[in-house]
Amino acid sequence: MLYSGPAFSAAALGDGIVELKFDLAGDSVNKMNATALRDFDAATQAIARAPDVKGVILTSGKPVFIVGADITEFTGMFAAGEQGVVDFCLAGHKLFAAFEDLPVPKVVAINGVCLGGGMELALCCEYRVMSTAATVGLPEVKLGIFPGLGGTVRLPRVIGIDNAVEWIATGSDKKPDAALKDGAVDAVVAPEQLRDAALAMVKEAIAGKLDWKAKRAEKLAPVKLNAIEQMMAFTSSMAVVGGKAGPNYPAPMLALRSMQESATKGRDDALAIEAKYFAKAAVTPQANALIGLFLADQAVKKTAGSWARKTAKEINQAAVLGAGIMGGGIAYQSAVKGTPIIMKDIRSEALDLGLNEAGKLLSKQVEKGRITAEAMSTTLSRIRPTLNYGDFKDVDIIIEAVVENPKVKKAVFAEVEGLVREDTIIASNTSTISVTYLAEGLKRPQNFVGMHFFNPVHMMPLVEVIRGRQSSDDAVAATVKLSQKMGKTPVVVNDCPGFFVNRVLFPYFAGFHMLLRDGADFQAVDKAMEKFGWPMGPAYLMDVVGMDTAVHAAGVMAEGFPDRMKPDFQNTTAVLVGHKRYGQKTGKGYYSYAPDKKGKPKKSPDPETYELVKGVVAEGKQFAPEEIVARCMVPMVNEVARCLEEKIVASPHEADMALIYGIGFPPFRGGACRYLDQMGVANFVALADKYASFGKLYEAPKLLRDMAASGGKFFG
Ligand SMILES: NC(=O)c1ccc[n+]([C@@H]2O[C@H](COP(=O)([O-])OP(=O)(O)OC[C@H]3O[C@@H](n4cnc5c(N)ncnc54)[C@H](O)[C@@H]3O)[C@@H](O)[C@H]2O)c1
Repeated sequence: MLYSGPAFSAAALGDGIVELKFDLAGDSVNKMNATALRDFDAATQAIARAPDVKGVILTSGKPVFIVGADITEFTGMFAAGEQGVVDFCLAGHKLFAAFEDLPVPKVVAINGVCLGGGMELALCCEYRVMSTAATVGLPEVKLGIFPGLGGTVRLPRVIGIDNAVEWIATGSDKKPDAALKDGAVDAVVAPEQLRDAALAMVKEAIAGKLDWKAKRAEKLAPVKLNAIEQMMAFTSSMAVVGGKAGPNYPAPMLALRSMQESATKGRDDALAIEAKYFAKAAVTPQANALIGLFLADQAVKKTAGSWARKTAKEINQAAVLGAGIMGGGIAYQSAVKGTPIIMKDIRSEALDLGLNEAGKLLSKQVEKGRITAEAMSTTLSRIRPTLNYGDFKDVDIIIEAVVENPKVKKAVFAEVEGLVREDTIIASNTSTISVTYLAEGLKRPQNFVGMHFFNPVHMMPLVEVIRGRQSSDDAVAATVKLSQKMGKTPVVVNDCPGFFVNRVLFPYFAGFHMLLRDGADFQAVDKAMEKFGWPMGPAYLMDVVGMDTAVHAAGVMAEGFPDRMKPDFQNTTAVLVGHKRYGQKTGKGYYSYAPDKKGKPKKSPDPETYELVKGVVAEGKQFAPEEIVARCMVPMVNEVARCLEEKIVASPHEADMALIYGIGFPPFRGGACRYLDQMGVANFVALADKYASFGKLYEAPKLLRDMAASGGKFFG
């Protein structure tokens, strides 16, 4: 053994070949953390010192190759500021270059996931052999940064500028075929042949049958395009990448600028340029937010995992009551993920509609070649439509998705409770009504929980699992487990009207309505909020949700929180509902809708809207975008803080993820708590105070005032 450390070992295999193996001690995966980097340096030095080394194969001792850098180390590292990050990158570059410069050919055997820093290490070898089971890629832009361990320098020299721009700016994973086609790997082989293939290749290189020196020289020299060709390649990609990423996501453009500036340089100068631009990306608020989001997502999944482990119960058979928008979506999602589900409605047309929707979604997957026709029919066979309660005694969970009316819901619960086993869970997909209230009158309230899906069910990642006052841990745990099995991210919240997500969404709508009342143009509000980062502004969102639904839910919220959610004026949405303008579903709401070429509803401004709401709005007035943002966001953020105070949601990271996964809170802002941290809680409280005259929704709660006074933050 030439070397053995906590992450790397180097062993002589005979014939001058050394196997450098990455197997991070005490971890299920290999990641490029501080320990691994230090150890990599020591292993490289040991190989450099060893006599008679003729070639190296780089392998992994785990089922993955290298998952990437250790993201948990980023926050601390990036807190060192721009120069600190530059220094860190340069130190990393030195280690990788020392490995690249070993005076022998190197072949990497990529056996599994090889992303980010892992791919960057693989690029230091002259040859890459990939298993058919592996995936490669440079996903760093998803974290608001870009490859900073030489990826932007080596990749364009290996696969050309256009390909490298696509890999780096989109951050997409690449399957073996795509990697081979682009020239990022030299061969793709079956997993069991990988090691032999890498050994054979290194032997050929040693024997001079492969010109490994030429391969290396390419990576040390400037990119092989003349100045004009380079200019053309970068100019066209800048326009595409800039347009796609938009101003809120600066990392892809910084990566491109780095690649452009370094393209004409040799490796070491090019690496210095990469370090400079990488540091610029690393200190942006977007990188801070997106890295925070990644960590929050992991924390949320971990919490859900520990919930799920609290029960031995398995959900093998589900049922959904109601085959409407939500019930149909729930049945589809359950079936796709392998849990058979009975779909019950009181109308056969509704059942047909529900099944048709599922069929349409599956057909699209077949058309796109994602699933086979056979898989489609297997999935569909997992949904059993019915108009009666025939087989309900074998059901492990009933998910209720009938109309949002407590009387109807309670009648349905009373009806089904007598038909199911003692341990069957009854979950309501209510969007606003208190779960504790709905459980009143049930014989087994401990089996009752809320399971709040978002529309469209197959697209939206969040499920709020609501714990009523009497819900048992076992029922909550089993519901969390099912949500995970359905491919969703569950967040357990405590009960109140609107739970967490809708409770904070309605104050945002209230802010919107007040703005309109005071003369703001709803199109200007939408524009300002979309620029802030929301996927759609509040007027458009109302149209998509359905204004009748929104008005109904607002009523429930007003009853639940009369001190701040009961409006003292008639709002524009209520007026439009009065004129049967319910939004997209009726073709008219704030906007008018007509099908586009693909049949999707396309919105256009409608002068009639302004006429209809005239009586409830002040004369038209222009508001600065910052004022619009503040007047919509302050009520929402205040309510998030109240939910944390009241422990409706358990932690800031759960709150942030629920907002991002449930209603599309701008990801580059990281969620409401991250947004507060970034603007400074004291600044936020001052902003809220500025609008105090608009009532209690604008009053910053005690939690925020205390944090403002002590300089507190939600995240370290
Ligand atoms: N639509 C949304 O965006 C959304 C989002 C989250 C939660 N929710 C909630 O989901 C629930 C359902 O909403 P939806 O939008 O799917 O409504 P919907 O009107 O599309 O569907 C309701 C279905 O329930 C059926 N139904 C009525 N009474 C029934 C009974 N006794 N037994 C069986 N079926 C019965 C109706 O025939 C109808 O098909 C509501 O509580 C709603 O608040 C809706």
